[in-house]
Amino acid sequence: MRAKELRQKYLEFFQTKKHIIVPSASLVPENDPTTLFTGSGMQPMIAYLMGEKHPLGKRITDSQKSFRSGDIEEVGDNRHTTFFEMLGNWSLGDYFKKEQLSWMFEFLTKIIRLDPKNIYVTVFRGDENLKIPRDNESVGIWKELFKSVGVEAKDVDFVEKNGMQGGKIFYYPVEKNWWSRAGVPDKMPIGEPGGPDSEMFWDFGEERKIHENSPWKNEPCHPNCDCGRFLEIGNNVFMEYIKTEKGFEFLKQKNVDFGGGLERILAALNNNPDIFLTDIFSQGIKKLEDLSGKKYVGNEEAFRVILDHLRATTFLIGDGVLPSNKDQGYFARRLVRRAVRFAHRLGIKNNFCGDVAKIFIEEYKSEYVNLGVEEEKIVAELEREEDKFRSTLGKGLKHYKLAVEAGKFEIIPGEITFNLYQTYGFPIEIVEELAKEDGKKINREEFDEELKKHQDLSRTASEGKFKGGLADHSEKTTQYHTVAHLMLAGLRKVLGKNVHQKGSNITEERIRFDFSYPEKMAEEQKKAVEDFVNVAIKSKTEVVMEEMTPEEAKNSGAEGEFGHKYGDRVKVYSIGEYSREICGGPHIKNTLEIKGIFKIKKEESSSAGVRRIKAVVEQLNKNE
Ligand code: ALA
Repeated sequence: MRAKELRQKYLEFFQTKKHIIVPSASLVPENDPTTLFTGSGMQPMIAYLMGEKHPLGKRITDSQKSFRSGDIEEVGDNRHTTFFEMLGNWSLGDYFKKEQLSWMFEFLTKIIRLDPKNIYVTVFRGDENLKIPRDNESVGIWKELFKSVGVEAKDVDFVEKNGMQGGKIFYYPVEKNWWSRAGVPDKMPIGEPGGPDSEMFWDFGEERKIHENSPWKNEPCHPNCDCGRFLEIGNNVFMEYIKTEKGFEFLKQKNVDFGGGLERILAALNNNPDIFLTDIFSQGIKKLEDLSGKKYVGNEEAFRVILDHLRATTFLIGDGVLPSNKDQGYFARRLVRRAVRFAHRLGIKNNFCGDVAKIFIEEYKSEYVNLGVEEEKIVAELEREEDKFRSTLGKGLKHYKLAVEAGKFEIIPGEITFNLYQTYGFPIEIVEELAKEDGKKINREEFDEELKKHQDLSRTASEGKFKGGLADHSEKTTQYHTVAHLMLAGLRKVLGKNVHQKGSNITEERIRFDFSYPEKMAEEQKKAVEDFVNVAIKSKTEVVMEEMTPEEAKNSGAEGEFGHKYGDRVKVYSIGEYSREICGGPHIKNTLEIKGIFKIKKEESSSAGVRRIKAVVEQLNKNE
């Protein structure tokens, strides 16, 4: 079966069970500052699981793009990918265990015809500390379902040394059969929803684990072990709890959160545990074989890394994540550079990332239309990043070899790793990987120290140069700086909290100010921002500065760019209730010093997703 067909069958099946199909959300979460990427189908559903009404009803299904950055280094075996599609269906306070498990069984065994003999399931064992009971209800349902197809399903307690015990249904402890965004109950913050789950595994057969080097060769096997015999193909989460100060309580409603990896279900259908041998990757494999003159068989690791990483970056760039040195962009950069390094090892010496991206775009664009729309940009960005890295890759590798050999290092010192990072653009994780291949280690603390030293230096340099976006510290420029704070607060009030400053340039003549916002501002919106600022000016409000940690600043509601950019302490400037922002200053003492009427002169596009305003205080200029 092809990926397209499986996706469609799944969505249509749940449609017949009265679910509404919704499109995948972006890989960059919209209103979730807790995480950089969407890593599961339920993340965009959190509010609805907590009780907010979904505009499309109580039954939703989709295929969600997911990216798990934590898995980058796992990629290379037959089952791990950073990007994957998660098939999902949700009951938002509607049906519960009985319907979910029955439908899932029907889908797997009747619709796509997986042999129930090779399906194994797990359930929550119960936990006294959490005061959450054993999931006997699910066990009863599973038993009936297996019985209906003539398969006897014995339930057994998981005990590692006892292996399979002739079981079909396995009780596991909370470490294995509990799901929340944050993981096990101990790791969940107060207010986080979660619940016990019931996972389904495909059995590829006992012989899968008996290869010569398998660390599990002589170990007893069970469904949720890592030997490679079993593959998890789906997880039914019964999301009915919320963590409170007092322990776990019931959520307002009982929910179902199902997620199953599309690629993994395909692998089960192929009865081949290598998910890179599903149709999704076949053209990509062919391309790499042509370019390198090498075969997939025998070079699996490099092929898998390259294909996974380029598929992921194709989707990431499609969702607006460009390779860069920070936040999401850093992961995109790391992925491209890692793919290029593995390609280099295969002997692919010319740019190829764009060509591989085109193959993935072709494969996916009917489902993820933005890929088709953004094709040119995706290819161009990949080529740009590849060019950049290729220009230094060879020299960097030589440098690494010489420096490490010359010093006969077992632990590679910070100066060398930092130089590779700084001069040759090697992400530290790549240096770490090179070292590992040579049986060496890096000194991560030393690297971090070097990086910090460098950042402090360049920050000082840029502060000297731009003075935080101010052309000078004259009285008028300082007034405009305070006005700029009021304007940002006004923009966020009028246009919403997604508006953030993207840059500013302030002189005695005017404010030039860039901010994130996707479209042209309407006249009324500009007017509303002007009014907000003018009211604040007239209110004769004091401008107050306090010092605190970035954490305290954030918690106090101050606007700022939170991340590694700040030092241990920051200054927060408040203008009454109007504005509160992290800033180095300087500012005026009271808004009464601003004499005149604030006016937006121009509002235009600056770059994708960024608008630029030119603004003045009118009397202020005239009076001078
Ligand atoms: N949210 C569940 C998971 O990601 C379904 O496994």
